[in-house]
Amino acid sequence: MTDNDDATPMGADTAALEPPLKSLPTISGAARLAGVIGWPIAHSLSPRLHNTWLRHYGIDGVYVPLEIRPENFADALVALPKLGFRGVNVTFPYKETALALVQKATPAARRIGAVNTIVVALDGSLIGSNTDAFGFLENLRDAKPSWRADSGRVVVLGAGGAARAIIVALCDEGAAEIRLLNRTHARALNLAADVHGPICTLPWKDRHQALAGAELVVNTTSLGMRHQPPLDLDLSLLPPGAIVCDIVYVPTVTPLLAAARARGNPCVGGLGMLIHQARPGFAAWFGRMPEVSDDLVRQVLGDQFDECSSLV
Ligand code: ATR
Repeated sequence: MTDNDDATPMGADTAALEPPLKSLPTISGAARLAGVIGWPIAHSLSPRLHNTWLRHYGIDGVYVPLEIRPENFADALVALPKLGFRGVNVTFPYKETALALVQKATPAARRIGAVNTIVVALDGSLIGSNTDAFGFLENLRDAKPSWRADSGRVVVLGAGGAARAIIVALCDEGAAEIRLLNRTHARALNLAADVHGPICTLPWKDRHQALAGAELVVNTTSLGMRHQPPLDLDLSLLPPGAIVCDIVYVPTVTPLLAAARARGNPCVGGLGMLIHQARPGFAAWFGRMPEVSDDLVRQVLGDQFDECSSLV
């Protein structure tokens, strides 16, 4: 009698845990490589997102998390072409540093001052771009196809990196008037000076009144995120048809979106921006512009999807 002949049903248990072989992704020795570099990186949804797309389209490729310490970031970028990577996403805290390290950057990335997507060119050089502006606009248009940047006043709350990308997007789309408010006013002034456009900065305390006559309000601050206080914003003066957009995506329905929805305003959540900003990188590395669907979001979010009353 061998160990395997033991009465304990080991073989049966193992078989129950293993998925059928045919559902395993095909990653051959020629698989295309991409990933996301950050510190920390364990919380990132990007590996789930890209690998779900890879499986969905049957592409021989893999997208890996690369947790790189700050002292190794520059070396890691230099190593990408040597390791055969097609490119990477760059996330916190390296988006600004990446701009300084790539050999070429798109004009939008330069204006935003940050790179979130790197493509390794055929000659091994690194080309940096910023797809946050694209992600913001695509997400907005998905939710509200009739939206036009030049149709009315936009209010942007916050003046960090995300606000910079969103304001560049709005200006490039021909926004008529942008009211920019940030807790640290000097930061709003700097942003307005860097990004030339129809931007008027107002003190943070005036954020409630600033909503009068707005067509679109965007929260780019971290307020409303899980473990953060909610954004204190009185919506009374906001016109009923104004779109309320929150780039926070954990939770998917923030207190701001819940309040806006309760008074009937159209709402746009932040998860869609995260997903859309990933699409141009995927297209460059893996050769296909991926689609966004509720099914995809359900697969990426897993159990968390059930916690959301809906994805806006
Ligand atoms: P990101 O790159 O995601 O935009 P960031 O650059 O750290 O992140 O910016 C965070 C934004 O949230 C900033 O506008 C910040 O305001 P300050 O510039 O005054 O720091 C805003 N923010 C964070 N906590 C806030 C709070 N308690 N009240 C108001 N604004 C807050």
